Amino acid sequence: HPKGGSVINPRELLGQDLTVITEHIRRLLGSGHPVLNTISAYYFQQQGKHIRPLIVLLMSMAANVTAQTQSAAKGVVPASREDIDRAIGDSEIVFRDFMKDSSAVSPSYPSSDLPILDSQRRLAEITEMIHTASLLHDDVIDESPTRRNNPSAHAAFGNKMAILAGDFLLARASVALARLRNVEVVELLATVISNLVEGEFMQLRNSQAADADVKPSVAARVAALMVGGSSESEPSVKMTKFEYYLEKTYLKTASLIAKSCRAAAVLGGGAEEVTQIAYDYGKNLGLAFQIVDDMLDFVSTAEELGKPAAADLNLGLATAPVLYAAEEYPEMNELIERKFNQPGDVEQALDLVRRSDGVKATMDLAVSYCQRAIDEIAKLPESPARNALIDLTYTVVNRKK
Ligand code: FPP
Ligand code: MG
Ligand code: MG
Repeated sequence: HPKGGSVINPRELLGQDLTVITEHIRRLLGSGHPVLNTISAYYFQQQGKHIRPLIVLLMSMAANVTAQTQSAAKGVVPASREDIDRAIGDSEIVFRDFMKDSSAVSPSYPSSDLPILDSQRRLAEITEMIHTASLLHDDVIDESPTRRNNPSAHAAFGNKMAILAGDFLLARASVALARLRNVEVVELLATVISNLVEGEFMQLRNSQAADADVKPSVAARVAALMVGGSSESEPSVKMTKFEYYLEKTYLKTASLIAKSCRAAAVLGGGAEEVTQIAYDYGKNLGLAFQIVDDMLDFVSTAEELGKPAAADLNLGLATAPVLYAAEEYPEMNELIERKFNQPGDVEQALDLVRRSDGVKATMDLAVSYCQRAIDEIAKLPESPARNALIDLTYTVVNRKK
């Protein structure tokens, strides 16, 4: 179906698996402090896209199929569902300490013939918790008044409470992560958290750091993010504005998706080859996802988005549509340098973006990352979940919110 049109609805494939995620997260968030409970659960009450847990669950299915095929070929018996459940079960003894609700001690997942491990479901929940923690903090940093068509958490409860709720979510996600008893997975997700902060930090410093010197190791990594690749040219020691934008985008969005995909494959017992495919799929889809997000900021309405539109220019941020427009209209560079902070700058930048091919070029860029993601995941053996991961790339580029 490379011609488009979804053959598999990923959400249907997962059925109840996705809807119970929010319920389980609520159980992981119980504390003796009702107000803290309310605020940390606040963003889970509103309907989110759940794109990250969706990807983790599908990747788990696709990678588990692969792990089974591979171990069967090698004559190795994979760990049974019971073995894994027992390992996870042990760790839930400690959960009783802070979970009053005894029904929460052993979460009963809906029966399903799809071989997703309980550890992988937990990973999907952890991923959504880390993401939501970052949104609580992000809305404070961006001073954004709305999210998911409701007042944002800081608007409803104040900055201090919103920050603490984010910290609390992160802490409970870390506890749940430790309980998976898998050091490699802990390291992956802990690195994600530092990457989120690094990405946000790069974004805050935006213009100052563009064209800054970078270490060769960073330069090589950034060059690999560029569509068109770095194969013919030496990695530069100066980052261009566009490379800076891509590195920031990887850190703030793609890292979480990439590393949670790898972690899903690790939990499934996938070989290095499989975990690398999972990572590369997640990285490219994650880049596409954020690039589309940056495009929607220009083409979508606040009503459609459930959060303010044209927010990035007002925050002084130059994202892909602006950087492309600057190639056609060099007068844009001056506005970028001063972070659109003079009266009329935002309007002028919007006008230049509209007159340029910036939005189309941004869409093309997102599509090319999706194509890379498809090329990666297509290396796994055919399965409904693998096909759903391919179809998911279309949903990512065609979404309106
Ligand atoms: C949303 O981006 C924000 C992020 C993807 C990451 C934010 C990261 C932090 C605030 C660092 C702290 C991290 C943790 C884990 C507490 P956006 O502002 O472009 O998206 P939006 O339009 O949805 O607000
Ligand atoms: Mg924001
Ligand atoms: Mg932000």
